[in-house]
Amino acid sequence: AKHLGDDLSAVLHTEEELRNRLAELAREIEADYPDEPPLLVGVLKGAVMVMADLARELNFHAQMDWMAVSSYGAGTKSSGVVKILKDLDADIAGRDVLIVEDIIDSGLTLAWLKENLEIRGAKSVRICTMLRKPEALKVEVDVAYVGFDIPVEFVVGYGLDYAENYRNLRDVAILAPHVYS
Ligand code: PRP
Ligand code: MN
Ligand code: MG
Repeated sequence: AKHLGDDLSAVLHTEEELRNRLAELAREIEADYPDEPPLLVGVLKGAVMVMADLARELNFHAQMDWMAVSSYGAGTKSSGVVKILKDLDADIAGRDVLIVEDIIDSGLTLAWLKENLEIRGAKSVRICTMLRKPEALKVEVDVAYVGFDIPVEFVVGYGLDYAENYRNLRDVAILAPHVYS
C-alpha cells in the first residue's frame, strides 16, 4: 500500500518544531487574555490538529467551537466569497474570540471570517494561525499569532490536505510537484 510519507519532497517543520512553537504562542495568548479566556473558533477541517494541540497547551479553560466554510459559486477557492456550511453553536456577542487556523494562504477566507464574526458583535476577534504564506497574500489580514511564515510551496500535513489526504501526517511537508502537476 501507499505509505503516508511517499510523494513528499521535504519536511518543512517537524512535529516537534510545531509543538514547541505552539507552546510559545500559548504563553503569549495567556498573557494577552488575563481576565477572560477567549472562545477558540476552529475552521474545519484543516484546523483540527492545531486546535487540539493549542488548546492543550493553554493553561486556562479553552472552550472550542467550530465553523465549516467554503467558497461560493463558479470561482476558484480563492474567490473571497464564502459560504457557511456549519455555523458556530455559540452566541459570540460580547465575547473575545480567537480564530484558530492551520494556514493563511491568500488570506481571503480569514479576512471574510474575521469580519463576519465582528459583525455578530464579538468583543474582539483575533487570529492564530500555524502557518502563513506572506508572498501569497491577496488581502491584508491582521494576524495576532503566527507559528511560521513559509514559502509559496504546496504544503501538506498537520491538518493540511491535498485532495483530502495527508491531513494526518505529523509534520508539515512539501508535496512533490509530480503529484499535482
Ligand atoms: C484551506 C486552509 C485555510 C484556507 C486558507 O482550507 O485550511 O482554511 O484554505 O486559504 P486562503 O488564505 O487562500 O483563504 P480549505 O478551504 O482547503 O478547507 P480544509 O480546511 O477543509 O482543507
Ligand atoms: Mn481550512
Ligand atoms: Mg484544504
